[in-house]
Amino acid sequence: MALIPRGVRFRVELLDASARGYVCENYGAPFQLPDLGPIGANGLANARDFRAPVAAYEDVEGPVEVVNKFCGNLWTATYHHSPLDVVAWHGNHVPYAYDLRRFNVLGSISYDHPDPSIFTVLTSPSDTPGLAGVDFVVFAPRWLVGEDTFRPPYFHRNVMSEYMGLIEGAYDAKAEGFVPGGGSLHNMMSAHGPDRETFDRASAAELRPQKIDDGLAFMFETRWPVTATAQAAEAEHLQRDYDGVWQGLQRHFRPLP
Ligand SMILES: [Fe+2]
Repeated sequence: MALIPRGVRFRVELLDASARGYVCENYGAPFQLPDLGPIGANGLANARDFRAPVAAYEDVEGPVEVVNKFCGNLWTATYHHSPLDVVAWHGNHVPYAYDLRRFNVLGSISYDHPDPSIFTVLTSPSDTPGLAGVDFVVFAPRWLVGEDTFRPPYFHRNVMSEYMGLIEGAYDAKAEGFVPGGGSLHNMMSAHGPDRETFDRASAAELRPQKIDDGLAFMFETRWPVTATAQAAEAEHLQRDYDGVWQGLQRHFRPLP
């Protein structure tokens, strides 16, 4: 992942013919590492793994188009030289990159699920503790060892909205219908959880230590509702029967006497 702080001029150069990615534009407090609380000094995304650029410049005269986003609109201006002329810098308002595979995943080694907030890479806190403007969360390769536990993510509804993307591989709660490059959106207060196939498989699985190592998924989790653009709502590839993945779930409601 790469983070570009607001106000920074940048240029994107593709190493291959094409590139795809996910973008989160954060209007809130700057992203920061989450407080680790009882975890202590190290764990999750370690500060040592974030890479900031060294100073670099190009000495280019001539017309350079600079595009600027301001108050929701894109503006353009033509400079008579390249603005990419940083010969030295110090401070902390800088772009940085982080290899998500360096994430130190923590999890339960006894039973039950911790909240997925333990997968937080970076957070943009709000004025209300526990309700981030946005958390950036990664579901990285990890071992599952919980006993007496349904191991996929549990069924839930919550006060935050969750936009998920799949960078590569598969996601452990979606046996079908979630492909790399895709996205899923569960807005605040909407119920969701593993699909039927995942439920059936996990319910019958023997609870030996199991490695999830074939995928890299992420989530933007925000206290705000997320609305779809017209392009997204009308896209041909929109999964209009998305709730079909929960059809056929058997009723297992058996309260103890
Ligand atoms: Fe969720």
